Amino acid sequence: MNSIGASYKPDATGTDPKQTGSVPSLKLNDGNEIPMIGYGLGTANYKKGQDSKLDQRIIDNTITAIKAGYIHLDGAEAYNNEEELGIAIKKSGVPREKLFVTTKTSCSPGVTVEQAFNVSLKKLGLDYVDLYLIHSPFWAKSPKDLQEKWAEMETIKESGRARSIGVSNYIQEHLEATLETARIPPAINQIEFHPYLQHGDLLEYQRKKNIAVAAYGPLTAITKAAPGPVDGIYKSLATKYGVTEAEIALRWTLDLGIVALTTSSNEQRLKSFLRDLPSFKLTPKEVEEIAEAGKKKHFRVFWTHAIAPDDRR
Ligand SMILES: NC(=O)c1ccc[n+]([C@@H]2O[C@H](COP(=O)([O-])OP(=O)(O)OC[C@H]3O[C@@H](n4cnc5c(N)ncnc54)[C@H](OP(=O)(O)O)[C@@H]3O)[C@@H](O)[C@H]2O)c1
Repeated sequence: MNSIGASYKPDATGTDPKQTGSVPSLKLNDGNEIPMIGYGLGTANYKKGQDSKLDQRIIDNTITAIKAGYIHLDGAEAYNNEEELGIAIKKSGVPREKLFVTTKTSCSPGVTVEQAFNVSLKKLGLDYVDLYLIHSPFWAKSPKDLQEKWAEMETIKESGRARSIGVSNYIQEHLEATLETARIPPAINQIEFHPYLQHGDLLEYQRKKNIAVAAYGPLTAITKAAPGPVDGIYKSLATKYGVTEAEIALRWTLDLGIVALTTSSNEQRLKSFLRDLPSFKLTPKEVEEIAEAGKKKHFRVFWTHAIAPDDRR
């Protein structure tokens, strides 16, 4: 079964979405649903320093994305642009309840999750977020630190002000430590994920534990790591399906059952992603071919100060 309009919904166990008329959403372990393509407020939209002046470019880019149909918006305290995101949401004219808004806590020393969350909500001008994440585990000195922070996240979820809670940049040992004491398991782990960084057994572990994966940097093989072993495969599949190589990279992510977070300042590119991605699907053999070729190269863009260069987890 691979027909347009199939009612089947993917979930965190790794089953891939069917071809559908629009961008699919994935069912999280808490019953909520996350749209499988998200627009990122980091990287190209990141605001440097602690400048409190609003950056109109970020507001405009984000309004363009929302109007183009991006309902999943990936923000963070660390991107220093939650105010811009909040303004864009209001100005877009799209009702709040139709959007899926994520933000993340930096876990700064001496700041509780409750405090960080309240600041984020205020900056966003919202009374709830759809997903709240611990941005990274690298501040923690021990498993206990991660467990205590997670307990604070659970309190936020229980208050109803974050519909789902999760983590980011965790490897298996961080998830294991968290799950040891968690009352509510993380719904998702947002990680750098592309053919040149597939994280060994992490996906399989998360599928078993029903923790969804969101991929940031899904276009890395094209934008930052070329030339490389997947170039030829992307190219021939792009010709086969009549789409761009970037769309092959994003569809590969979706066909692994992974949420893809991208960003673009190019309205046409944003629109064509939403138009083209639901309209085709890679075969299992093609998905495998990209994965296998990708394993011949290792490349990581983010958090390289915290992770050893040869660490592929
Ligand atoms: N949790 C974390 O630690 C973490 C870390 C990093 C990122 N993230 C999240 O993930 C989001 C996406 O990350 P990302 O920007 O690395 O994603 P990406 O999808 O890999 O890259 C998007 C960038 O690629 C460019 N691009 C798109 N298509 C292209 C093409 N065909 N040729 C050349 N350039 C092209 C875009 O620029 P144009 O404007 O030219 O289209 C855009 O700047 C971030 O915004 C953030 O929300 C999270």
